[in-house]
Amino acid sequence: MSAFQPLNIKYSEIPPQFTPYDLVIDRSLNEMQDVFYDQDAVKRSLAEQNPSIVKVWMAPIPYDRGHLMSCMTVIYPGTIGDEFYMTKGHFHTDPVNDPEYYLTIRGEGMLLLQTREGDTSVSEMLPGILNYIPPGWAHRTVNTGDEDFVFLGFFPSAAKRDYSFIGLGKENFKKVVVKRLGKPEVIDHP
Ligand code: PA5
Ligand code: MN
Repeated sequence: MSAFQPLNIKYSEIPPQFTPYDLVIDRSLNEMQDVFYDQDAVKRSLAEQNPSIVKVWMAPIPYDRGHLMSCMTVIYPGTIGDEFYMTKGHFHTDPVNDPEYYLTIRGEGMLLLQTREGDTSVSEMLPGILNYIPPGWAHRTVNTGDEDFVFLGFFPSAAKRDYSFIGLGKENFKKVVVKRLGKPEVIDHP
């Protein structure tokens, strides 16, 4: 069996591009209704349109232990009610072996982190900051600016995402990021 061949990925932040890739995840509001706290605002938004919220490109790298995956995420600017557009957020299923790095390349955002025990942490995400997500921490990213928020992610390829705690009536993230007087504010989940 021949070795996996070296790979060079080209990316840009304006416009967001990442090639080659083998998977694109495109999430619009109707697929993410349960993640936003203000369900009336979700319904009002959907009555008008179904906005794109997030797009993720995954590198064509095997999903096997031993490989290191890279991906690029764009979160578009906007709010649902007063809550900024964000990712669903997830744990990695292995609580001890699967950390992740996020490297912001455009825009401004926040990283919400939370353990199974309920510890929380909030970090800024900006170009020039490399965020480390240790194993065992659920992670959600939020676009707190008014332009595309774009970041690269690097994690062990075999890591699997667990979204089961997200959604209505579920545990969810304890902190939410809302726009108050034009500025981001972190509040407890209402
Ligand atoms: O691997 C990651 O953590 C990222 O690629 C995320 O999956 C991406 O940012 C989208 O987030 P989520 O899958 O939580 O909606
Ligand atoms: Mn992850």
